Amino acid sequence: MKIIKTVDEFAAWRNRQKNSIGFVPTLGALHDGHMSLIKQSKKKCQSTVVSIFLNPTQFAQNEDLDSYPSTLDQDIHNLDFLSVDILFLPNEKEMYQNVSEVKIPSSDLFNKLEGKSRPHFFYGVTTIVAKLFNVIKPTHTFFGEKDAQQLFIITEMIATMKYSIKLVSCPTIRDKNGLALSSRNSYLSTDDKKQAAIIYQSLMKVKEGLDQGISNPNKLKDIFKKNIVTNHNMKIDYISIADIKILDEIDTIKEQKVLVSTAVFFQGVRLIDNFIYRLSET
Ligand code: PAF
Repeated sequence: MKIIKTVDEFAAWRNRQKNSIGFVPTLGALHDGHMSLIKQSKKKCQSTVVSIFLNPTQFAQNEDLDSYPSTLDQDIHNLDFLSVDILFLPNEKEMYQNVSEVKIPSSDLFNKLEGKSRPHFFYGVTTIVAKLFNVIKPTHTFFGEKDAQQLFIITEMIATMKYSIKLVSCPTIRDKNGLALSSRNSYLSTDDKKQAAIIYQSLMKVKEGLDQGISNPNKLKDIFKKNIVTNHNMKIDYISIADIKILDEIDTIKEQKVLVSTAVFFQGVRLIDNFIYRLSET
């Protein structure tokens, strides 16, 4: 694996490539969720590029930019093991001074769900992802379904900015108790992680309710709340049942596809998870 730190060196490599290039953008602190995206890229594309860039603009002042987990040596080892072709490892100067500014069309999706609690977040994410797309010029890019709203927003951005990049969405990877893998899980002890699996278990109670034909979203949200508060240390930021296209809360579940998503604070860590449900499929 080659490690490239500058845009100029990357451009020289990129100009020599004729075939498909899969791109997996990351903040580092890689886990099996990232590895599954990389494996998909390796399957579908001739070359795979992974970026590690801890993007400051997607963190608010009160968030964990300074303490965000960093495991660079281990990340390099794991990427090498998977025979990734290029690790793009720019610093802030490279991304913010040596890559042209991008103008991201604003979207209604930015201010829903995660955007309500983290208003800065999708502006930071879309700006850096567009800048990375402009440098990497991938044919394919791989995003995880755990960050469902991010995935929808990047899909929309690819369409509105007319990138010819195919976005491949990849299923959430979970630990054996069901907790969705996230770099932030490293803030939790082994016992905390076991307890945090209640988030997924509570979502699955909602799914059972849907399977049984409960169509009132408030009843379904109550099922989630009642289940999760059995652990007194869980604090719900939101539980949402939203239309998958516009991410607005829905009044009655009919035949549309819905996104059931949540953010929960536990031991000072904000954990998110979701599932997609289509009533007519059952
Ligand atoms: O999902 C992430 O890890 C980040 O939001 C991303 C896509 C790498 C942008 O910084």
